[in-house]
Amino acid sequence: TIETGLRPSSLNEYIGQNKAKENLAIFIEAARMREEPLDHVLLYGPPGLGKTTLAAIIANEMGVQFRATSGPAIERAGDLAAILSSLEPGDVLFIDEIHRLPRSVEEVLYPAMEDFFLDIVIGSGSSARSVRLDLPPFTLVGATTRAGLLSAPLRDRFGVLSRLDFYDSDALCSIVKRTAAIFEVDISEDAAMEIARRSRGTPRIANRLFKRVRDIAQVHGERVISLKTTRKALEMLQVDQQGLDHVDHKYILGIIDKFNGGPVGLDTIAATIGEEPQTIEDVYEPFLLQIGYIQRTPRGRVVTPPAYQHFNREVPES
Ligand code: ADE
Repeated sequence: TIETGLRPSSLNEYIGQNKAKENLAIFIEAARMREEPLDHVLLYGPPGLGKTTLAAIIANEMGVQFRATSGPAIERAGDLAAILSSLEPGDVLFIDEIHRLPRSVEEVLYPAMEDFFLDIVIGSGSSARSVRLDLPPFTLVGATTRAGLLSAPLRDRFGVLSRLDFYDSDALCSIVKRTAAIFEVDISEDAAMEIARRSRGTPRIANRLFKRVRDIAQVHGERVISLKTTRKALEMLQVDQQGLDHVDHKYILGIIDKFNGGPVGLDTIAATIGEEPQTIEDVYEPFLLQIGYIQRTPRGRVVTPPAYQHFNREVPES
């Protein structure tokens, strides 16, 4: 995709996530000095924050090949065996959505991660026997939205756990300007900042909004993308002052109007607004929690007073 052209290829080019970056830089340097593969790395955090990008950077910085797959794509132990046995020493294998690996595959992965071998069962019934297949040493980089989604035995086999956080507006502004430079488009500082402030802390969203703003500026024949055009574009895209979109609105207003602000269970609110509970939980709620517009309680989701204010609604008497 066009996205790959935007991806930074080194830690130096990668903007934000300073804590994760600092730590990884040291672990990578140490592994290189010892001429060993890097320990297995688990990257976790909301979607769109750059987990795949960081995994590819790790491979690049280690000077090894990058191979990418995903939990749901590996249906059987044999699928995993085929991938692992084709790796070269030190390679990075990236498994996105690693929490969705089938349990039977996960069990085959444990000895592969720990001691670089696979136990493959050949035949069936009384003639079934187990064959040991040695693997090249490799680095597994797993990605998931929450570390807690992994089983404890899988989580324990990662030597490096790295949490990615939402980006602040300054970092997102730098990312937007970097993207504009790659596309050879001029954008004013205040326009870049406007996109940054309305991207929900997420580079993937910032880059998507930038592309649509660029379209509108182009059609208007604007040479340098202005704040005015940017605001107009964001309005057309139904992105509000806080960066909340149509689904965020449906979700919050649904809780306010149909459940008197909550508490309401995830499945109930998801069904009410016609969205998947998993999408609500992984994609929408993390940012709303971060800005304090909702809270998770044992009895369900609750909308907070700042969210009422954002939508110009009266906070109900409790
Ligand atoms: N593009 C998307 N995410 C990025 C990041 N963190 N740094 C630089 N460019 C990016």
